[in-house]
Amino acid sequence: MKILITGGCGYIGSHTCVELQNAGFDVLIADNLSNSNQVVIDRIERITGKKPEFIQSDLSDNGQCSKVFEEFQGIEGVINFAASKAVGESMEKPVMYYKNNLGIILNVIENMQKHGIKYFVQSSSCTVYGEPEALPIKETSPVKDATSPYGHTKQIAEQMLAFITASTDINAIALRYFNPIGAHASALIGELPNGVPNNLVPFITQTAAGIRKELKVFGSDYPTPDGTCIRDYIHVVDLAKAHVVALKRMVEKKNKEKLEFFNIGTGHGYSVLEVINSFEKSTGVKLNWSFAPRRAGDIIQIWADTSFAERELGWKAQEDINSMTLSAWQWQQKLDKK
Ligand code: UFG
Repeated sequence: MKILITGGCGYIGSHTCVELQNAGFDVLIADNLSNSNQVVIDRIERITGKKPEFIQSDLSDNGQCSKVFEEFQGIEGVINFAASKAVGESMEKPVMYYKNNLGIILNVIENMQKHGIKYFVQSSSCTVYGEPEALPIKETSPVKDATSPYGHTKQIAEQMLAFITASTDINAIALRYFNPIGAHASALIGELPNGVPNNLVPFITQTAAGIRKELKVFGSDYPTPDGTCIRDYIHVVDLAKAHVVALKRMVEKKNKEKLEFFNIGTGHGYSVLEVINSFEKSTGVKLNWSFAPRRAGDIIQIWADTSFAERELGWKAQEDINSMTLSAWQWQQKLDKK
């Protein structure tokens, strides 16, 4: 089966291409390379022994999107990673975020209908839950008002898919990711943040590598055991594998609804200080860090109830926090050598 991976040169997309090819799927990547690099195609080939098909395309442009579906016949499913993803940037450029993130989905779905393609996997986010009232958080927990246009596009995408799947032949699964970190064991693919990283783990690895002077830990007075925020960090390879099982579930007609939602996390919450400790322990590298004021917009704590994904998808995260931080460091070291 040929699967179109939008944004397949990006961080999560590239790892998913590897897992799909390992599972026997053919992969076509469409990516505009705005926040990714084409070298990833060769890396995927080095890991899997197979070169994915590739087209550089801006899918938010309907003409370019249609061309992908016309030029490459035989697409049977789509996994949608193509999106702008920086929370802060979305506050400054909301129109761009709505146009890009939602426009891509609409263009892709329109073409899926035209070509009779029935399976769609959407990158969603635990950000749809906002600050949880009860932990661990279940898929049935209420979706809260979004606090950024980025988060809002994830919510709207889920709502659009509910109406679209109800009235078309399209089946969809929205995977609500928790915090993906780490890199492929080969250290051939990983996260390539643009400029100064916003996220914790790339900031840690760049600080350890001497690219940044010091990690600032945002907030020391949160109502958590050590005063720092808690997240459910998940290894990007585990996350990639969840896409393969989600796709197979629809192909094998095991989905129970036209649109389903799954939490994709480990079920364990780690504080910022625990992540730093894990990094130091797994790599043997001492990190330079200090406390700084809270970062605006951060939720205090969230981790997933993964029982629904385990039961329905037969999927469970395998990697622990130490293997996540170690693989992130191995990737950083390989990057520094180049
Ligand atoms: N943090 C620091 N210092 C840093 C960077 C982060 O202390 O330099 C802290 C944050 O305050 C937070 C934790 O590390 O407590 C994790 O922060 P990240 O930026 O790595 O991740 P977030 O949980 O804020 O956001 C991520 C994704 C979003 C997604 C969200 C869903 O970046 O795209 O998870 O909750 F929407």
